[in-house]
Amino acid sequence: MRDRHHAGSTGDSTARIRQDYDAYAARYDRETSVYERTMLGDGRGWACSQARGDVLEVAIGTGRNLPFYPRSARLSGIELSPAMLARARARAGDLGRDVQLVEGDAQALPFRDAAFDTVVCTLGLSSIPDDRAAVVEMHRVLRRGGHVVLLGHVASPYRPLRTWQRLLERFPAVVGVRRPADRQTRQVVPLLDAAGFTVLYRRRTRGGIVERVTAAK
Ligand SMILES: C[S@@+](CC[C@H](N)C(=O)[O-])C[C@H]1O[C@@H](n2cnc3c(N)ncnc32)[C@H](O)[C@@H]1O
Repeated sequence: MRDRHHAGSTGDSTARIRQDYDAYAARYDRETSVYERTMLGDGRGWACSQARGDVLEVAIGTGRNLPFYPRSARLSGIELSPAMLARARARAGDLGRDVQLVEGDAQALPFRDAAFDTVVCTLGLSSIPDDRAAVVEMHRVLRRGGHVVLLGHVASPYRPLRTWQRLLERFPAVVGVRRPADRQTRQVVPLLDAAGFTVLYRRRTRGGIVERVTAAK
């Protein structure tokens, strides 16, 4: 069941995620690079290559996508965890990229309607407590004709893999995973449909676990 179905719990879940990512920030890059090599392939490059005009990256984390954006993109990023955001800021400085980095909540974006041409989110929707609210917010801040570009993990269509994902989701410590809560069995396309997006592209790899999606407003 989604966090929002527990009355009053989304705020608690969000505070918990912020705290957990603050504590995890120093380990994030090292541990994520393993996941990138085994699961994402060229996913970051694929996602960022589609960014056009005014671009918002939601849940930008430590800014691992920053090296992949075209120079022409005018970049903004929002992130819940101050410690993750501080690393993104340092990375932007190292790369010489001008990025508007904002501490804030993807479930209530602090941007006006129709402010962006592209919204990018990689590995983010599985961490955000109310993923539906985040997708509705992405739709709100996009201009008409703007695109959302998503890369992340979703529930596999294959039962044995899904069973493994459920195990990982419910008992991460039992299978040796020590990182902040991360939903493995969500689906993003139904949320895009419900928010009013038109899905343009969808590709699943790694047993249907890793999904790339683009959709237009
Ligand atoms: C698995 S990390 C992904 C980071 C980055 N997008 C990447 O591709 O490496 C998930 C990120 O989502 C952020 N996050 C979780 N809930 C959020 C929210 N409600 N608003 C903004 N960021 C959030 C976490 O702080 C964390 O940095």
